[in-house]
Amino acid sequence: MDLLKFALHSQSSKPAPEDSKNLEALARDARRSLLDGSCAGSDFLGWMDLPNTARADLPRMLDVAAQLREGISDLVVIGIGGSYLGARALLEAFGEPGERGGLRIGNGPEIHFAGEHLGGAALAKLQRRLWGREFAINVISKSGTTLEPSVAFRVMREALEQFRGENANHYIVATTDPERGALREMAALHGWNSFSIPADLGGRFSVLSAVGLFPLAVAGLDVEALLDGAAAERARFLENDSTDSNPAMAYAALRNHYYNGGLALEVLATFEPELFRLGDWWAQLFGESEGKEGKGIFPAAAAFTTDLHSLGQYLQDGKRQAFETFLRVANPAKVLTVPKREDDREGLNALAGRELHQLNRAAEEGTLRAHESGGMPILSITLHDISPEALGGLIWFFEAACAVSALMMGLNPFDQPGVEAYKSEMKKQL
Ligand code: PA5
Repeated sequence: MDLLKFALHSQSSKPAPEDSKNLEALARDARRSLLDGSCAGSDFLGWMDLPNTARADLPRMLDVAAQLREGISDLVVIGIGGSYLGARALLEAFGEPGERGGLRIGNGPEIHFAGEHLGGAALAKLQRRLWGREFAINVISKSGTTLEPSVAFRVMREALEQFRGENANHYIVATTDPERGALREMAALHGWNSFSIPADLGGRFSVLSAVGLFPLAVAGLDVEALLDGAAAERARFLENDSTDSNPAMAYAALRNHYYNGGLALEVLATFEPELFRLGDWWAQLFGESEGKEGKGIFPAAAAFTTDLHSLGQYLQDGKRQAFETFLRVANPAKVLTVPKREDDREGLNALAGRELHQLNRAAEEGTLRAHESGGMPILSITLHDISPEALGGLIWFFEAACAVSALMMGLNPFDQPGVEAYKSEMKKQL
């Protein structure tokens, strides 16, 4: 069973045979350079082996997570960019809102996020919500010096120390560089539990390492299943050298085709609310990997049907500068039906007894047809279901497609020189 399928939905926007040949050759070169380590940024290929290498630390991760779960009601995950977006996306997929505004899976602890902005009021609200609660902190920063998480950590650590005194150190887990940086030094000094972000792993490619796996394990997600799914997609990528059989290559090739034809914006659209936040992770992955040297496709995530009532007009009739990728689910949850009522003023009784997923599917099919008729090129990725396996597979698939796509554009997918510009200007202001 394939965890996901990729397809070109609109045959009218299929590349001409000559273009297909060129794209195929470029995608092959890019894949080969990833496999033999000759690509730009080859010091950062650790993500490719994570479905295997992350398992080495898994027993300890699960152990520390189980111990922590015993004694806490809440976990605050502090990080920004690649150090939080993946865990957040997966928690949105599998968790539900808890009483204190966090996300929880079953009766596990509530997971909260901090350090992804500098808004004082929002952080103060979190502090208030957790006041007197038995919370712990997982601070995640590869460099250990990023301002936003450093500030949030200092604030939340003070709250933790007021509540737990000397014992606070048992409730702090640091995920950072194995050897260097302020966070590594502090972890050693205070005896915090800690996990390493290997040197060959960039932030936005790190969700399948302790960066994502540890907080998700504390939440109670089956993180081994995530890695199993990722391993399956990795095997497919390693074994297949053609866009016909390798979906990551096919997706990368078609993205480049539309980009070369002048479409510099991709909308990742999904009709499943569980996947809305995955769009944020995807946008960072592609945005930071491709947006450089005056090149790149701008990644925009859309949540349908919600955004059909805001962005829908533009997508249907606006300037033709985008292509759409629909993230679909073959087997969504079938849980609710439309109730029948005596007073049928809205006329909904015609739909009574129909499952909500059928309505959602109708909206999806209708949107595909409407956007296609409006001249929008459409790609589709169909997940088998919303399970840890399928999302693990999807994550690895997107990472591979992103690396191939950026390499096809002649870019180093693994650096982010532009992110430094705001940091140095901010330092001057401070
Ligand atoms: O993808 C990246 O490398 C970035 O988004 C980083 O993850 C982000 O800037 C946070 O960096 P750090 O983990 O060093 O605090």
